[in-house]
Amino acid sequence: MNIALVQNAPCLHAVQENLDTVERMIDGHEADLFVLPELFASGYLFDSREQLAGFAEELGHGLVQDTLQRWAKEHDAAFCAGLVERDGDAIYNSAVVIAPEGRLTHYRKLHLFYNEKKIFDPGNLVPPVTEWRGARLGVMICFDWRFPETARSLAIDGADVILHPSNLVMNLCPAAMVTRAIENGVFIFTANRSGRDELGDTVLQFHCGSQAVDPQGKVLGTIDEDEEGVLVVEIDPTRARNKLATETNDLLADRRTKFYHLGE
Ligand code: ACM
Repeated sequence: MNIALVQNAPCLHAVQENLDTVERMIDGHEADLFVLPELFASGYLFDSREQLAGFAEELGHGLVQDTLQRWAKEHDAAFCAGLVERDGDAIYNSAVVIAPEGRLTHYRKLHLFYNEKKIFDPGNLVPPVTEWRGARLGVMICFDWRFPETARSLAIDGADVILHPSNLVMNLCPAAMVTRAIENGVFIFTANRSGRDELGDTVLQFHCGSQAVDPQGKVLGTIDEDEEGVLVVEIDPTRARNKLATETNDLLADRRTKFYHLGE
């Protein structure tokens, strides 16, 4: 399976322009699956919940999802991407996985980062695992990396590959994702954005390149943090089904769940 990481530098709130840019970026690239950043079409900063609401799409409707659906058909590939989702009065920092035949799954970020807590509602869904061309795909979003339970939950639910749309502002994540890959025996594809957002007095520079990691923690490829770019990496997802750390140690079966405290 070929998986493409797409690292764009969105212009803040210029959705159509950002979609056009990504369309040009992916043109000519062949992959089974494209992974795009968190909030890849809107950018990251919003003044208020009211402003954020202007970018929100109901599941199954809206410019961003329609465009992802069109790209999926044109590229005969699945697309995983972050967007602003509205459900009634709630607004979520979400990600969808859309295949040529339609949406495979969707997820709402569980662990909101910093000021996201002021404008988004916290996610209320179990991190999902879906199947595409023989690979079991799990989804988490950016700051979920700081909570190892998220990746573990996906691994327990059978994910071979974790798709990780991101807008990273801390440089600790790439190293942490190597550990997440090793401890869960999974591939992880982190699609980060590049560039900066400026809104009023707030300037946010995004750090860390996108990266693909294999179940042994080997970094299979990265995109430089200053660039926009597409990186296609070929993997055999079934490698993630061997959870043996040694002949006698299984990463999942050897867990001593009776003895762990997970809190409330
Ligand atoms: C983040 O969760 N976007 C840092």
